[in-house]
Amino acid sequence: MAEPILEVSGLYKHYPLATGVLFKKQVGAVKAVDGVDFALHQGETLGIVGESGCGKSTVAKLLMNLERATAGEIFYKGQDITKLSGRALKAVRRNIQMVFQDPYTSLNPRMTVGDIIGEPFEIHPEAAPKGDRRRKVQELLDVVGLNPEYINRYPHQFSGGQRQRIGIARGLALRPEVIVADEPVSALDVSVQAQVINLMARLQSEFDLSCVFIAHDLSVVRHISDRVGVMYLGRIVEIGTDTEIYDHPTHPYTQALLSAVPVPDPEAREHRERIILAGDVPSPTNIPSGCRFRTRCWKARERCAREVPALAVPAEFRLDGGPAAHASACHFAEDAQTVPAEEHESGAA
Ligand SMILES: Nc1ncnc2c1ncn2[C@@H]1O[C@H](COP(=O)(O)OP(=O)(O)OP(=O)(O)O)[C@@H](O)[C@H]1O
Ligand SMILES: [Mg+2]
Repeated sequence: MAEPILEVSGLYKHYPLATGVLFKKQVGAVKAVDGVDFALHQGETLGIVGESGCGKSTVAKLLMNLERATAGEIFYKGQDITKLSGRALKAVRRNIQMVFQDPYTSLNPRMTVGDIIGEPFEIHPEAAPKGDRRRKVQELLDVVGLNPEYINRYPHQFSGGQRQRIGIARGLALRPEVIVADEPVSALDVSVQAQVINLMARLQSEFDLSCVFIAHDLSVVRHISDRVGVMYLGRIVEIGTDTEIYDHPTHPYTQALLSAVPVPDPEAREHRERIILAGDVPSPTNIPSGCRFRTRCWKARERCAREVPALAVPAEFRLDGGPAAHASACHFAEDAQTVPAEEHESGAA
């Protein structure tokens, strides 16, 4: 198995919570990212899914080196990028580019589309000689399905979907190897979401990109992801190939999320049990002991409060160790019971 293009190991981002006069006293921390491990392999798309506040954007910012990690490493082709600065950091940044969530606020309204897409060339002038840039921008417009003649227009002259295409073109300008897309379709109409996802899937294979694709919802990443990681309260609780996650989820949280995904087939819908989780997500300043999901889990037992479940690969996959390894951070992942026994309201007392 080839070395992963990105490897994240024991990643933490804690934001200090301060109080008192002039915020001198630290009283705790928002544990936005609290022990994340994953690998991204060359040419694959890894979907990262989880509810609002679980730390997805913080992971994206750490991957982009827009935030400094509290602890942990991010290896890009074997080199830890969390400690880089200056030129070395800039060189790595050229190869890892981001597509942002909101195409309405992430594009400067006073810049033309040509200037927006060409902006990365200002930061990395070595990527294209000045005389070539306009042509390159026009090529990029064409690649994302926009008319190259629109180069002098402004963002407000485009629809939401078209604006996200502009954001994608900007992300591709430097021909990066990795794209980190943080909820690239969440702000778009449902009818437009599929078009943008299809475009990203096409570009991914055309440019041989490796992608981290972040979304709220398991249904959004299904068709674009080779593997999916499910996040809960700052940690990945289950990771595996799309078939493993969608057809054989073993973590109760993944099972609950999947039970909420709309099913088009009415017969399948009738046979499916909707799991409604009890209570709210606990605060990231006060993460439950042991298994962080236990306060909402119908399988929780005494052991879950005591022992932190590792993101473990089940025995049958252990020899392989490749990207297909399906891992679940649940003490009772291999337990057959997948839905709450009595009623579907769940939660440990
Ligand atoms: N700069 C910051 N200072 C303090 N807390 C922060 C900061 N940035 C994020 N957080 C907190 O960290 C947690 C994770 O935030 P993050 O934005 O990563 O979540 P998310 O999964 O992207 O959520 P969403 O789906 O709403 O975008 C949240 O509780 C958030 O309030
Ligand atoms: Mg976010």
